[in-house]
Amino acid sequence: MGEAYLFLSGKGGTGKTTLSTSLALALAQRGRRTALVDADVGLRCADLLLGLENEVLYDLSDVMEKRCTLNQALVRCREAQGLSVLSAPQMMQPSEIDKKQLSQVIRTLTEDYDFVLIDCPAGLGRGLKNVWSAAKEAIVIATPDDPSIRAAERLSQLLFEKQGIHPRLILNRADRLLVSVREEQRPARIAAQTDMQLLGVVPDSPDVYRALLVHRTAVQSDSVRVRRAIGRIADRLTGVDRRLPRYCRS
Ligand SMILES: Nc1ncnc2c1ncn2[C@@H]1O[C@H](COP(=O)(O)OP(=O)(O)O)[C@@H](O)[C@H]1O
Ligand SMILES: [Mg+2]
Repeated sequence: MGEAYLFLSGKGGTGKTTLSTSLALALAQRGRRTALVDADVGLRCADLLLGLENEVLYDLSDVMEKRCTLNQALVRCREAQGLSVLSAPQMMQPSEIDKKQLSQVIRTLTEDYDFVLIDCPAGLGRGLKNVWSAAKEAIVIATPDDPSIRAAERLSQLLFEKQGIHPRLILNRADRLLVSVREEQRPARIAAQTDMQLLGVVPDSPDVYRALLVHRTAVQSDSVRVRRAIGRIADRLTGVDRRLPRYCRS
């Protein structure tokens, strides 16, 4: 029986899709059977970052409405054996999703996969409420600026109050130089402020955006520091103890 992880953020554009696709690849490359579920109904894009956009025949709504089996809807990733991707419907609204059926799909996936990563829509609205009972683990992705930190803090409180989930934090787009001149807060401090355990810190790099332009994700980018940071997070998720770089600690 595997574990399902929600990738969430209060504020949009913090890197949920970038990091859920990257970690899905990294976990599969470590030999873990991994399923990535794009739950961003109406705005799917995990297929694009993994270069699978021409291979998606069925999506989550086809599975829920029994137009195909779950197995038929899963797209196998060429880049990593053991990684399968379930896409979100493009022409539906979050309000049209039956959350019980969605939870059932996730539960079925956890029977076959070691890791089920769920790329969620941003915000605290309907999209979040559709998925938040589908997993016991959550990872909040925030960037080191106050609007994103405040939204992460609120999301973390809400997840605990309503679902009893203690989410962990990945701080994305951190800038070591800005931390060293104290313009950006230290990642450990942001984790303490938002009352979340720090799962990892991913540096900001223009190579991540350059990778996106050619339909590749961060762990396939030219930035060695980004690739290493994602690798350390994948290791931590598999139970291997990896230290954070010095600038991230308190
Ligand atoms: N570590 C990073 N460094 C630089 N750009 C990043 C990084 N992570 C994400 N981005 C960029 O931020 C934008 C939003 O990322 P995305 O993963 O789509 O966010 P979300 O899924 O949370 O809306 C994309 O253009 C992506 O390339
Ligand atoms: Mg996204």
